[in-house]
Amino acid sequence: MDARDEAGTPRIPGSSPAGDHLPGIPEGIGAPEETGTSGGTRGSLGADHARVPELLEATRAYAVRLLGGLDDRPVARAPVRPAPAPLPEAGIGLEGAMEEFAKRWEPGFAAGAGPRYLGFVTGGVTPAALAGDWLTGTLDQNPTSGLDSLAPDLEREAVAWLRDLFGLPSEHEGTFVSGATMSTFAGLAIAREWLGERRGVSVAEEGVAALGPVTVLSGSPHSSVVKSLSMLGLGRSAIRRVGLLPGREAVDVARLAEELDRLDGAPAIVVANSGTVNTVDFDDLRAIAALREHHPFWLHVDAAFGAFAALSPGHAHLVAGLGEADSVCVDLHKWLNVPYDSAIQFTRRRDLQTRVFRNSAAYLGPVGDDPDFVHLTPENSRRLRALPAWFTLAAYGREGHAEIVRRDVALAAGLGERIAAMPAYRLLAPVRLNVVCFTLTGSPSPARIDEVVDAITASGEAFLTPTVHEGVPALRAAFSNWRTTEADVERVAKILQEVASRP
Ligand SMILES: Cc1ncc(COP(=O)(O)O)c(C=O)c1O
Repeated sequence: MDARDEAGTPRIPGSSPAGDHLPGIPEGIGAPEETGTSGGTRGSLGADHARVPELLEATRAYAVRLLGGLDDRPVARAPVRPAPAPLPEAGIGLEGAMEEFAKRWEPGFAAGAGPRYLGFVTGGVTPAALAGDWLTGTLDQNPTSGLDSLAPDLEREAVAWLRDLFGLPSEHEGTFVSGATMSTFAGLAIAREWLGERRGVSVAEEGVAALGPVTVLSGSPHSSVVKSLSMLGLGRSAIRRVGLLPGREAVDVARLAEELDRLDGAPAIVVANSGTVNTVDFDDLRAIAALREHHPFWLHVDAAFGAFAALSPGHAHLVAGLGEADSVCVDLHKWLNVPYDSAIQFTRRRDLQTRVFRNSAAYLGPVGDDPDFVHLTPENSRRLRALPAWFTLAAYGREGHAEIVRRDVALAAGLGERIAAMPAYRLLAPVRLNVVCFTLTGSPSPARIDEVVDAITASGEAFLTPTVHEGVPALRAAFSNWRTTEADVERVAKILQEVASRP
């Protein structure tokens, strides 16, 4: 299945050997003497403009071929960088650029959108999401303000659909951002402004120094929370890790209450986790939210992929209480299966959000009651990220996306059962949702785990990422791709078995 040409260069099945021209792309296009002299010369912008339909047809054919080979392409690549190329003085036109890309770069790209890429938490791209993404570039809307286009209104509709999908109440308003890290960054920026409100200062106006020390409590925060605290000027050391339930990554709510008691009425931020990366454990959101009766705190929930538990009747209880949060982070390039980059940020306090991110320029006009997106996130101009999400939700609806979630959850459970039955491995946690966290039997060193990870990668059959869970070097297999099937799980189990038996 690892298609290679005679020189050993990996290529996708069905593609021409490296060095050949792409089907549909005439040879000789892009020779230096033909380029860059005047509009209309081959290889120039003028020439490309004149042939847009034909060139996009060739691009489409190339994309279709790449998609056709996705299931069989080696899943991940050890990086072997091509020799650097200088900035072209005269361009080679779109066909030439496509050939260059196909020769020099594409063979080294991972099948990240494919069914056995189980590293990190990685979604694929549904057909409708891909179409939406193509049209995003085609129409090139800047949804920053509503002065010129309905694009921001489409984004509002997509936000409303996503709010419904995750069962959030209408008080939660949402905005598209580039990823869960930016969503958490924005959520904690609003939290910071809320702390200021409680202390009688506006951080947005006076700066973070006016706020004084801040306490952020969390059980098993994702690294993006700590990074966000650094970016927000609150400092990485603001985070205080709260004790966990025995043998779990979920916070012990009684210990959280004790920590809040110790603050003696001082307002704080609590980051609850709905789906930890290693074992996909869930904090008890209802119990945490109830602590607000006696303690003032902003509740931010990192539900980057855990929010999708709401789509599975057997797992929806894991995110019960999500709507009670003050801010919620959900990634969309994970389990919604839209292309990078896309996430959503929800909050109940749009007034504070606007205070933080308000942009002011004569041509933007007043902020108003329903602020334009330019006033809601760190970005000003940006792409219409909502379009791929809108397309996939319109095309497959709640039911289609629930099916993806249910299938991935079942596949993760299936791989978990197979691994539990293999003498070479042991599970480190029950498979609660879509991630299998496991290690080699005995006491494997980090180097031994890396060997196993490297051997899996080299096989081209699958990609898994290493981790450390409770001090034990381990592996994770995360299921969040719409393409993955039982047959893929069988292939993953087979390669796991094989690599473990190697000396
Ligand atoms: C729980 C959780 N939070 C936050 C993130 C950060 O996501 P992103 O890389 O999209 O910023 C991740 C990524 O895996 C995650 O799993």
